[in-house]
Amino acid sequence: MAGKKMDTRELGLILGKALLDVDDLHYGLWGDDLEQNIANLSIAQQRYSDKLLDALPPVGDEPVRVLDIGCGTGHLLKQMLERGYAADGLIPCPYLAADVRQRLADIPDHGATVFETGFEVFNAEAYRDYYDVALFSESFQYIEMETAFKQLHTILKPGGRVIICDFFKTAAHNDGGPGSKSFGGGHKLAAFYKRLNASPFEVRVDEDITESVSRNIALLDDLLRNRVKPATDAIGQFLRENYPLSFKALGFLFRRRWAKIRYKYLSGNRSAEVFTRYKSYHFLILEKAAV
Ligand SMILES: C[S@@+](CC[C@H](N)C(=O)[O-])C[C@H]1O[C@@H](n2cnc3c(N)ncnc32)[C@H](O)[C@@H]1O
Repeated sequence: MAGKKMDTRELGLILGKALLDVDDLHYGLWGDDLEQNIANLSIAQQRYSDKLLDALPPVGDEPVRVLDIGCGTGHLLKQMLERGYAADGLIPCPYLAADVRQRLADIPDHGATVFETGFEVFNAEAYRDYYDVALFSESFQYIEMETAFKQLHTILKPGGRVIICDFFKTAAHNDGGPGSKSFGGGHKLAAFYKRLNASPFEVRVDEDITESVSRNIALLDDLLRNRVKPATDAIGQFLRENYPLSFKALGFLFRRRWAKIRYKYLSGNRSAEVFTRYKSYHFLILEKAAV
């Protein structure tokens, strides 16, 4: 199935990856033993990936089939294949899908399928009771929840696992406090639990990792305000001085979007405190009832 056009959130992820020169598109897991700096970001991100890898059932005689939903650049997918999992990836963005295929190219006979589609429209019937694990690494928030639960129930074997590592909106969502609109994304946590309780999935693990993940925020804020902002300011000044009329027209056309970008990314509202107030980051393992 054909992938969709790149949207602004995916553009943001791709630009972030290029700026930071990292392989993963998720936050990291930080602790007091790891100094917060850009050089340590890939270590923190690998700790996060290791947490997900540790949650997989062990590889035995039978293949353990995993679907990495929203597999980003394929870094985790590759690690699963290298550990002997029969893993597939699913990604709606053609640009990232090409990245994933390139990353897997050096694993001989990896056998992985990269489905280029959104999970909501994935042909789940064709994979009924097929997967042992469905995994979302910071990708659950992008997928309409009702459809996600139905699709998961179809593709998982009885006793199969859903692993979700992602953030959700807290009850403070949109309360108008400082920075209340600084972080987009995430399903409402209360709505998620309500849907989960009505589903045939049992919660095996539900760990709140907000504090550890939120330490990423200060790092990214520093990068945005001290590197990205001066660069965009300089480009803005160049355009204003050399193409004043076009600059004015563009400024007028994009004024709302630009104001939103400035508020969200460049105004100092992206702090760990604001993130913690409005987002709750969870590591979850759910299990489909065995029949
Ligand atoms: C924050 S990135 C995480 C990527 C990767 N899992 C990682 O941990 O590095 C979110 C991913 O979700 C994917 N995504 C967005 N909408 C999706 C959808 N409807 N179905 C499946 N994946 C989706 C994006 O293409 C992107 O790869």
